[in-house]
Amino acid sequence: MIALATSACALGGPSVLDAHGASEKRVEGLWWLLFAISAVVLAVVLGLMTAAIIRRRRRGTDVDRSEPRWGEPFVVLAGVIIPVLILTAVFVVSVRDMNAIAGGDPQLTVQVIGHMWWWEARYPNGAITANEIHIPAGEPVRIEVTTADVIHSFWVPQLAPKIDMIPGKTNSIVLVADSPGRYRGQCAEFCGLQHAHMAFFVVADPPDVFQRWMAHQEAPAAAPTGSAADGLAVFLAQTCDGCHTIRGTPASAALAPDLTHLADRETIAAGTLRLTRGNLAHWIRDPQAVKPGVIMPPTQLTRSQLQSLVDYLMGLN
Ligand code: CUA
Repeated sequence: MIALATSACALGGPSVLDAHGASEKRVEGLWWLLFAISAVVLAVVLGLMTAAIIRRRRRGTDVDRSEPRWGEPFVVLAGVIIPVLILTAVFVVSVRDMNAIAGGDPQLTVQVIGHMWWWEARYPNGAITANEIHIPAGEPVRIEVTTADVIHSFWVPQLAPKIDMIPGKTNSIVLVADSPGRYRGQCAEFCGLQHAHMAFFVVADPPDVFQRWMAHQEAPAAAPTGSAADGLAVFLAQTCDGCHTIRGTPASAALAPDLTHLADRETIAAGTLRLTRGNLAHWIRDPQAVKPGVIMPPTQLTRSQLQSLVDYLMGLN
């Protein structure tokens, strides 16, 4: 009971039994089918065992050495024929569901690239973002996944089965979200020290909101003014632009998340922290304290440099 109570049963976490899309409804259906079959088999086996125990007790100590008449046919039926029938039926249903999940002809394809330990999303209009992947609700979207380094796995439990990200290979899966919402995703393949902190969100917007979002993400960052302009100078003078891109500025490196519209996101560090001024300053000052092993180095900025930098980044919407 303790094992059950403590084994990832947190209320409110994303669950495959809380399907919000057509593909995931098939997975959920399969889960319940397997659960029902297992429950029936368990009940039958327990029933037979109970019957055997009761018969043995009634008979007392005198041992019956006669062969049971239907022993051998029963072993063939329950040990071979019924399992073969069950496994065949489950196989047929699984293949049918897998084909249904892979099918469809999505209008939109989003490329998602796994990195240690964050997610890059590229849209057909040139927009690039990280860790928060917007899609239009009610429309199928093809997600093409690959990786920049080691194996990761893209998994949004409420929307679709997981799909592995393998070096040198592009896999794809179709995501459908029935209704607008924010669906948590998680890396599902061990990829190093911060694997557990490699989360992301799929945000399903009403289609017109999504179109506006995608157009806005493609635009370069607006020119900063006041303290934020000092922040941009800090960004370019320190090591930030060695890894990050902010479109519309000279910063164009692609090792780390594109920050052009950072302030539109609700979280930073792959879902680890909510995006607030305090969290952002903490993250910039000492990323290793938040995510030990992360590639981002600590910075030695003065108080006013850090303030300006945070002013600038929080204005990137
Ligand atoms: Cu990426 Cu685990």
